[in-house]
Amino acid sequence: MTRITISGNKPLSGEVKISGAKNSAVALVPMAILSKGKTVIYNVPEISDIEYLIKIMELLNCKVEHKNDALYIDSTNVMNKPIPEELSVQMRASYYFMGILLARFGRVEISFPGGCNIGARPIDIHIKGFEELGAHVEIIKNRYIITANKLIGKKIYFDFPSVGATINVMFAAIGAEGTTVIENAAMEPEIVNVASFLINMGAKIRGAGTKRIEIEGKCPLGESVIEVFPDRIESGTYIIIGAALGENLKIKGIIKEHIEALLIKLKEIGVHYEIDGDTLTISRCNKLKPTKIKTLAFPGFPTDLQQPITALLTQANGKSMIEETIYENRFKNTIELNKMGADTKILSDHKLEINGPVKLKGTDVVATDLRGGASLLIAALIADGISHIDNSEYILRGYGDLINKLKNVGAKIEITE
Ligand code: UD1
Repeated sequence: MTRITISGNKPLSGEVKISGAKNSAVALVPMAILSKGKTVIYNVPEISDIEYLIKIMELLNCKVEHKNDALYIDSTNVMNKPIPEELSVQMRASYYFMGILLARFGRVEISFPGGCNIGARPIDIHIKGFEELGAHVEIIKNRYIITANKLIGKKIYFDFPSVGATINVMFAAIGAEGTTVIENAAMEPEIVNVASFLINMGAKIRGAGTKRIEIEGKCPLGESVIEVFPDRIESGTYIIIGAALGENLKIKGIIKEHIEALLIKLKEIGVHYEIDGDTLTISRCNKLKPTKIKTLAFPGFPTDLQQPITALLTQANGKSMIEETIYENRFKNTIELNKMGADTKILSDHKLEINGPVKLKGTDVVATDLRGGASLLIAALIADGISHIDNSEYILRGYGDLINKLKNVGAKIEITE
């Protein structure tokens, strides 16, 4: 168990540099298997999901070299093998091996993916997409065996714009004959990052970042290079921290268009910030207004920032309301926040009320999931006194070099195993 200890209520100044996006990197790394040669991925974040992905890549006979923030991958001699449960359950993104191995080998055997416990999280849209392209899917206990003698491109309509399913079906479509069209595709920036890597390899893809994506299959894919986009959720988390404790805190490496929904919301509640190129400068706001937030698929307010912003809204003057439309079990963090003095009420699986302002007090809490853990971290930074956050390994899954980044700007933070 990993414990983070924070002595809170310290002003934060200096500069935080944003790392590469977790949710892009976890798709880009396994995707190197689609290239019949060498690939380089720059700006890879230092997070545990990447370490587990590298273990799976090595199991499949890929050569992976890690130098600074770059991964050099040679998948010339890649071999198809079943992916064991002890590796696949370490993260949600192991599901990308389904589309990738299906496209390259016509067969994949893998256990059900892991990831944070924030709702039911089925993968039926992925499976339906593979089946529509001609794959046969067999589920034995929690093992998926997906096979296809031949994949054939087709028009697929998603009932929901799932990020994972959009990327996974794009991968499978790379191995299909003819053109695949995904209607009601997710539009998150990570999908654009993935499509760019595929296009750099030689794929023909149109429309990534819109609701309709077209993929021409069976293009030969070769050597390629890509840079992981900066992490919009990490950016948002540090911006929220800056709104609570910043003294001209600089967040470097942001892409404004990726975090617009958060920036507009922060302006609305009275936070001041300035953007110059890729750097946002922010200072604490002493009189925050309450607000209403509804999480939505991109470009709406991201569900992954819902829990972090809840910690900030405990400091707003009045009642804030959150409507979580993506997941049905994403308020578990508020039980821990209340132990620190927050006044939040779960009204239903999808609705949360936050009353403020309250004086948060350092205490012992337990991280329930990655972004829920981030909300406790923010609350502990705001709180008077000392907080211990147990199960902090969840938080480290999404925030590379977290402790150093916060120490460097003045936080009193330590980590113990
Ligand atoms: C990705 C992100 C996660 C983020 C989420 C929404 C990765 C590795 N993770 O997760 O951080 O919170 O997008 O922005 O990129 N659903 C189904 N059936 C499916 C697929 C999804 O019902 O086959 C439902 C899910 O249960 C959830 C919603 O659709 O309620 C959103 O899921 P999705 O967009 O697929 O999220 P992930 O790709 O799992």
